[in-house]
Amino acid sequence: MKIFLDTADIKQIEEAWSWGVIDGVTTNPSHVARTGRRPAEIYREICKIVDGPISLETVGLKAEEILAEGRELAALHKNVVVKVVNTKEGLKAVKQFAAEGIKTNVTVTFSPLQALLAAKCGASYISPFVGRLDAFGHVGMDLARQIKAIYSNYGLPTQIIVAAVRHPTHVLEAALAGAEICTMSLDVLQQLYQHPLTDLGIEIFLNDWKKVPK
Ligand code: E4P
Repeated sequence: MKIFLDTADIKQIEEAWSWGVIDGVTTNPSHVARTGRRPAEIYREICKIVDGPISLETVGLKAEEILAEGRELAALHKNVVVKVVNTKEGLKAVKQFAAEGIKTNVTVTFSPLQALLAAKCGASYISPFVGRLDAFGHVGMDLARQIKAIYSNYGLPTQIIVAAVRHPTHVLEAALAGAEICTMSLDVLQQLYQHPLTDLGIEIFLNDWKKVPK
């Protein structure tokens, strides 16, 4: 499973990229707002750091607005994936982007049928927001599993990006569900490295090594 970093924070992206485990980046308007910086500057910097898919989100609600914004974003770099909201207007734009060879990530997806429609319009990626569903008493990961089943049933090539991930168990479940990608914060990514038995094991080995005659 590929791992994307879900942020617009350049320092975090540089840090995670240097670890060698991330394959791409997803941003959204909230991430960009948190940086307090101009989007165009951030996007150019991300494209210099990351050699992999970089999702940049459109904010228009009408297909024509989404198309105009998305074409500009796609022109920034060959790795740009245009992020589009999962609405009727958004999917009209996705269909046209597909015809133009522009990759898309269909976001704020909360039902398997929304995901089916996005795939029918030629979406490159679909982003089910599992953690936001959990917060309302649903089993968010069921959405990813249902999308996987539907895409497999019909051989639909749209790749699943499990998103709005809150903890390592979400990442584990995404991998077990066969999602192609899981996007996560730097915090969650750091937690994937950690296990107290690894720390203890290292401590035991190093202590024993001190007793070895040299
Ligand atoms: C994914 O592409 C989104 O940017 C992200 O996962 C949204 O999740 P949030 O609920 O943490 O904002």
